[in-house]
Amino acid sequence: MSDTRAKSDHARPPRLHPLPIRIMHWINAVTIIVMIGSGWKIYNDEVIFGWLHFPQEVVLGIWAQHALQWHFAAMWVFTLNGLAYLVYGLVTGRFRRKLLPIRPREVIGEVIDALRLRLKHDDLTVYNAVQRVLYLGVIVLCILQLLSGLAIWKPVQFQELTALFTGFQGARLAHFLFMAGIVLFLVVHVCLALMVPRTLVAMVTGGPEVDPETGAAPTPQTAISSS
Ligand code: HEM
Repeated sequence: MSDTRAKSDHARPPRLHPLPIRIMHWINAVTIIVMIGSGWKIYNDEVIFGWLHFPQEVVLGIWAQHALQWHFAAMWVFTLNGLAYLVYGLVTGRFRRKLLPIRPREVIGEVIDALRLRLKHDDLTVYNAVQRVLYLGVIVLCILQLLSGLAIWKPVQFQELTALFTGFQGARLAHFLFMAGIVLFLVVHVCLALMVPRTLVAMVTGGPEVDPETGAAPTPQTAISSS
């Protein structure tokens, strides 16, 4: 590659979803689906709620031991990929730029708009208050899910952690409830993405170019100075 080409490539503004974010997001999406499907099969083996069994059509694994192998394999990918996402988000300032601040008044107003199917998402480069809450919320849920999973997996080695969940059964219940929260997020998240398909395209292609400082669409001034 010539110097001029390298320089001009370097000068190009970043995209809304840089390549690492897209790769980590889609790895996470597949991994979570594997973890949920296999988790449901493991749950069926010893249910918490007598009335709740997941049908064979929606679970992953022929028998519980088989599902456990899927669950543990996906667990490593989920953990390493999640750690990489957290480090990337903190070090590059993406979390600060994209997910903060959260103002309760805005969140309430936008939830009402969303219920009236009037949620605006004209500018893909700025997450609205509902998205911010959902994304930060699911990040926290994923961390709690991992911790409760560790507490069930190794209750002796991580006994302090297990005690935080009031013991093995408490950790099992918490693991189930965090899973339910993640599934709920996923349903809302996928519905919102399908309602605004441009967001889905952007999560594949990278989306529009953004101002490196603000992470939002370049203003006419920043666009001129970077060209
Ligand atoms: C197949 C399922 C999924 C689809 C179709 C999907 C789609 C998308 C799309 C289109 C965006 C960009 C939203 C925008 O620009 O307005 C996005 C962002 C995001 N998604 Fe998903 N997603 C899926 C699964 C998941 C899962 C399982 C999680 C976590 C448990 C997740 C967490 C996130 C987060 C945290 C962001 C914000 C990323 C950032 O900007 O750093 N997604 N998703």
